[in-house]
Order: sequence, then C-alpha cells, then structure tokens
Amino acid sequence: MDSAVNSFAEFWMPFTANRQFKKAPRLLVGAKDMHYTSHDGRQILDSTAGLWCVNAGHCRPRIAEAIARQAATMDYAPVFQMGHPQAFELASRVAGMLPDGLDHVFFSNSGSEAVDTALKIALAYHRVRGEGQRTRLIGRERAYHGVGFGGISVGGIGNNRKQFGPMLVGVDHLPHTHDLARNAFSRGQPKHGAELADALERILALHDPSTVAAVIVEPMAGSTGVLIPPVGYLERLKEICTKHGILLIFDEVISGFGRLGAPFAVDLFGIAPDILTLAKGITNASVPMGATVVSGAIHDAFMNGPEAAMELFHGYTYSGHVLACAAALATLDTYAEEGIFQNAAELSPYFEDAVHSLKGLPHVIDVRNLGMVAGVELAARPGAVGTRAYDVFVACYNAGLLTRVTGDIIAISPPLIAERKHIDEMIGIIADVIKAVA
Ligand SMILES: Cc1ncc(COP(=O)(O)O)c(C=O)c1O
Repeated sequence: MDSAVNSFAEFWMPFTANRQFKKAPRLLVGAKDMHYTSHDGRQILDSTAGLWCVNAGHCRPRIAEAIARQAATMDYAPVFQMGHPQAFELASRVAGMLPDGLDHVFFSNSGSEAVDTALKIALAYHRVRGEGQRTRLIGRERAYHGVGFGGISVGGIGNNRKQFGPMLVGVDHLPHTHDLARNAFSRGQPKHGAELADALERILALHDPSTVAAVIVEPMAGSTGVLIPPVGYLERLKEICTKHGILLIFDEVISGFGRLGAPFAVDLFGIAPDILTLAKGITNASVPMGATVVSGAIHDAFMNGPEAAMELFHGYTYSGHVLACAAALATLDTYAEEGIFQNAAELSPYFEDAVHSLKGLPHVIDVRNLGMVAGVELAARPGAVGTRAYDVFVACYNAGLLTRVTGDIIAISPPLIAERKHIDEMIGIIADVIKAVA
C-alpha cells in the first residue's frame, strides 16, 4: 500500500462498506483525460466520469490554471452583502445556456444543497405571494436528490431514508417508472409508462392540490440505476403541475452539461420547469459547486418588499465561492471551445449500439440508454441483492476499468470527451467480466 497512508481507520468513508473496503483498499492517485492512475501504478479507464461529474475529462489544463490563478489573486470573498465579479459573470453564463425564462441563479456547494435550496425557494415563493398553505412537496420512488433532510424526504431510495427518522412532513411520492415487463432493452426513451404521471392527479386529489408547493423529479433518474423517462411522461407531469399552479423542479445534477446528448434535459425534452438544479459538471467536478436556477416569475415574486429588506433568508458561506466560479467559467469555456456537448451527441448512437451488444450475456436482464448514459441490469443472486454487480465492479477495476454499480445495475456514464476506442474498451472489459462472474 502507498507509504503515504498510515491508517485507514480515521476516514469514515461515505456510501461505502468501510470494513470491506479497508481490507482491500482501492486508491486513486492521479488522473488525466479518460484515465485514473491507481496507487499501484495502473491506468484505469473511467467509465463513470468520476461520479457522473467529470464531463470534460480529468485534469484539463485550462480549468486547473484558472483555479490556481484565482487562488493566488483572491482566495475567498463573502457574498452576503458583498460580491465579486466572477459570481455575477457565472450566473449570467449559466442563465444564458438555459432556455429563456430560467434566468436567476442561486449558488451552493453541492447537488444536495442545490436541491434543498430549490425546495426552500418553492415553499417561500408560495408564501410571499399569499399561498402559504402550499407546503407539500411531491417526489418520486427511487429518486435521488442528495442527502440533506429535504433531499432524502423527497428522495425515494429506501436505504437512504430509513436510518433517519420521520424527515420532512407533508411529502408524498409518485411511483417510479421502472417497468422491465414492458420496456426491457429499450433504446432511448421507453415506449410505455406515460400514464404513470397520472398518479400525480390521484396524489393531488388525496391532499388537495392547493396545499402542494412543488413536484421534484430527475428528468433521467441516475443514481438509482439509470431510469429513462417514458415517452410523454415528463410532458404529462408538466401539464398537471401547470393546471394546479404547482411548481415543477427538474433535478439536473446528473443530466445537465451534456450527459444526455443535449446541453440539458430541458433542451432534449423541450419542457421548461420552474426551477432547475445543477452541480457536478458545472465545474467539471474540480471544485464543489451547486446551482439552483429559477424562473423570472419566481425571482420577481420576492422583489416586492422594502428595498432594504433581505428577500430570502438563505445562503451558504461558500455560495458562489470564487474558486468554484473560476473553475466553472473555465469549464464552460472548455465545453464550448471543444464542442464537448456535440461530441456527446455524435457519439451517442455508437455508445447505444455498444451497450446493447451486452444483451444476451449471462444474467443481463436489461440494457437501457439515453445520450451518454446507460444502465445494464443484472439478475440478482437469490437472497444476495447487489453482490453480483459488486463482484463485476471489483473485477472491472482489477481489469483496468472504473464502473459504478447500484444494486445489481451497472451505470455507465463516461467523460464526454470519450472516443469510440474508449467505448470499445469499456464494453469489452464489462462483457468479459460479466461472462466470468457467476
Ligand atoms: C440528481 C441528483 N441530485 C442531487 C445529487 C446530490 O449531489 P451531491 O452529492 O453533490 O450533494 C445527486 C448526486 O448524485 C444527484 O444525482
């Protein structure tokens, strides 16, 4: 083991089986473009863009230089009653990338904070316009919206919720859209399931729509194992929300910044939510940052009180941190100048064919994909859910490929600078490993 590591005991690792990991640690010590370097000196091809976040590939010089330059010029500046130019510039740039109407940006430090900010703004928005009875939030089964109390309350992954008590009150959940019986091996959006959005009408009838503040969904549910929205489903959700004056929040923490073969899911689906959350790819993961983008109508509703009064009692010491802003501006330049979103769009059909070539291998019960993301679902071993995919993950790592697994699903979401040869290598390793793992 690397001599720099004296003890594994003190670091309580997140979302990790700590005792299992520490018996056979996997350490990464370097990264460049499509690869990591492991502590034992191997090149590891990255099929997960870190954690769905390194969209422009690793250690891009322009981003590293921007961070270094900024750290030497001004390390930190508060944004409570003060400001710095980079935060304003970045907010304009982000708003400028999104469809008209999504044009005010609140910064935070993670996807979890972006989500909690979105939920708080939704509640406060209704209150400032005299509809303070709208306090309910609707999420969806199997959703992942980070780990804050707001995020796990509207989230729908049982393991992320069950240790933490009652969470927020007044939350309900839509059914998830996973339907292997009708949609297995779909390419792009599955055909069946638009009607699952109608469950929202039933939930609203139960609670009275005038008590509901917002519905939050991931346009493409990533962390639960890549669930692609059925054709017509998001449109239907939007229609029902509009009809009842309920805000629609799209959590684009994964789907934003090119992942789906379009700049954002809102572009791909042509549906405008009232609030949109971002993180991960906004800085290419180089410095933590989250962002919550809201419509003009929401923002303006807060701007009616006395001018000297704060409009929203919310914010983080590191909202719009200047290093994160510098990293994000350089990231957006990199995306634009290198045509990284176009590369993702152009590579998507090749990627689709490659991932679907896994159909027919032992234990593979589904392959699904959209843009540059795919889920490969394996049959669970009887009584041992998740162990088969975990074995695949470890075997892939030993063979030089970083993957991401959740339950018995392998999620593939490479950096968007990937080339065909990288896709071939990824799918080749995954295929060999699936054949070898019992
Ligand atoms: C859709 C979505 N929302 C929120 C989050 C939370 O982001 P973070 O881990 O930066 O708090 C994630 C993380 O994977 C995510 O996928």
